[in-house]
Amino acid sequence: MKFNESAYKEEMIDQIKQLKKDCDAVILAHNYQRDEIQEVADLIGDSLELSRAAVKVQNQVIVFCGVHFMAECASILNPAKTVLLPVKEAGCPLADMVTPEKLREMKKKYPGVPVVCYVNSSAAVKAESDICCTSANAIKVVNALKEKRIIFIPDKNLGRYVAKHTDKEVILWEGFCATHINLTEEEVMRMKKLHPGAKFLAHPECRQEVLQLTDFIGSTSAILRYAKEQPDKDFIIGTESGILYRLKRDNPDKKFYLPSQHLTCANMKLTTLGWLTRSLKNMQYKVTVKDPILSRARRMLDRMLEVV
Ligand code: 13P
Repeated sequence: MKFNESAYKEEMIDQIKQLKKDCDAVILAHNYQRDEIQEVADLIGDSLELSRAAVKVQNQVIVFCGVHFMAECASILNPAKTVLLPVKEAGCPLADMVTPEKLREMKKKYPGVPVVCYVNSSAAVKAESDICCTSANAIKVVNALKEKRIIFIPDKNLGRYVAKHTDKEVILWEGFCATHINLTEEEVMRMKKLHPGAKFLAHPECRQEVLQLTDFIGSTSAILRYAKEQPDKDFIIGTESGILYRLKRDNPDKKFYLPSQHLTCANMKLTTLGWLTRSLKNMQYKVTVKDPILSRARRMLDRMLEVV
């Protein structure tokens, strides 16, 4: 008998819906998740939207389809809930580029200088920092600080982008997103030649040379909003491929082009319907953050949510 892939997928989706009811769970998914995960999610969003949603969740269980630091954030913001990450290996190489020890060394070099920590970081690193930010609010967060000098960790490209939009001196950390860094100026130029007139929208984790070619820079959800609101029909997209699901779904009359074949985050793609089913069935893998890290990381996340 021939394997019927779509019937199998439908069956799994039905099973996930039933399991979700049985264990009073809500599924949050990042904009970079596989199409089928976004299809089955209760809420899809960027890091800021998902953090905000996590605070308000009433269900007993939050299944976070994303990477480890995102599930950790949900757990910090709503510690009474069970937070599950379907694939325990789903990490973030950028978050791993800074450790609490290395950050403490940096802080010693710049006493009194506040640390603005991008959400793509571990809870332990957040606990050593002063305020959190996401790509949606980084400029606002930095400008809200009274100090003239700040340390920005761990993404140097986002940090540089922020520095351009503030009068403050921004001390950068040498971190980068292993996916966005792949996108080159040449690839964007080639795509622009193929689609003259197409607008180029990119995430601020891209290299500076790439960001110089943009018509719009924003978080994944800001890119989604911009593409929907603009009358243009053609867009070149400078961020992870998962974003194409909602771009295409919400704008069937528009065309979206990825300028590089390397814009896929392997970690984001680890979560499949199979792993999501297993996660709900076996309540795995629980992500928890304990005190004192919990309360210190909570304070810096709350500080961010007060700014925006
Ligand atoms: P946003 O969720 O802020 O759009 O950022 C995406 C990202 O780079 C996650 O690693």
